[in-house]
Amino acid sequence: MIVITTKNELVQKISEIKNDNKTIGFVPTMGFLHDGHVKLLEEARKANDFVVLSIFVNPLQFGPNEDFDSYPRNARKDEEIARLAGVDFIFTPSVLEMYPKKPTYTVTVGSRVDVLCGRSREGHFDGVATVLTKLFNLIEPNRAYFGMKDAQQVAVVDGLITEFNYPIDLVTVPTVREEDGLAKSSRNVYLSEIERSQAIVIYKSLVMAKQKINQGMRDKEEIKSFISSLISNESDGIIDYVEILSYPELDEIEIMNGKIILAIAVKFTKARLIDNITFEVE
Ligand code: PAJ
Repeated sequence: MIVITTKNELVQKISEIKNDNKTIGFVPTMGFLHDGHVKLLEEARKANDFVVLSIFVNPLQFGPNEDFDSYPRNARKDEEIARLAGVDFIFTPSVLEMYPKKPTYTVTVGSRVDVLCGRSREGHFDGVATVLTKLFNLIEPNRAYFGMKDAQQVAVVDGLITEFNYPIDLVTVPTVREEDGLAKSSRNVYLSEIERSQAIVIYKSLVMAKQKINQGMRDKEEIKSFISSLISNESDGIIDYVEILSYPELDEIEIMNGKIILAIAVKFTKARLIDNITFEVE
């Protein structure tokens, strides 16, 4: 496994791989790797000759009052995890390497961002799309791997790949969870012990809401308020949003049928957690 910090070295290695007609699976991350990231790496390992992992906490996707500075980082442990997962190259550039000057060109995401995290984190997905554009251009992957934990990100990346004609297959991986159901996240380390035990209500409420829908409940507001009251009753978290939309379009729906997403964001003292489930309604 080789750790690369500069664009020059990366481009050099990628051109060698391309000259040999080998395939590249790319897993973009912000590091502090956990089993969710590992699952993406395992899928990439199975299907490609080379696996490239990027670790870059991208300042462009954090708002002024968000946790860019305090985002958890642990380069040494990430390297160990990556090696075990069979990664060939880690690309871990500095902020200056990725943004030598204030960007004059950025990608603006024009749809699928006026809901969910796009609504509460203004500019977030522009930052994600901009950094991914830079990374896709450097790495030229055949396949790129993304987790359904960030379902809206998947929808945005799908649009980016299609509209900018990247010859990249988008591969999605189901959310990896703790034994009690909490979605694995780098930010979980910022939960207090009490918050950690309360946080299980997030996934629990999604599963219970799905059961209600399967049993015939169809009133969107009734389902949303069922979820909200469960979360408020069983945790000190502050609800950022509870939404029910079509998936992957992320359109508001009047009548619930076809594929839908139930999505939640809850703020605890030092961590904002998101989770979702997607499923077909008959
Ligand atoms: P990060 O939050 O580090 O996540 C990297 C990838 O891991 C994303 O595709 C995310 O959906 C996936 N992931 C995170 N938790 C997961 C879980 N519990 N189960 C399955 N997959 C999971 O998402 C980002 O970084 C950034 O926005 C990035 C795409 C790297 C752009 O900066």
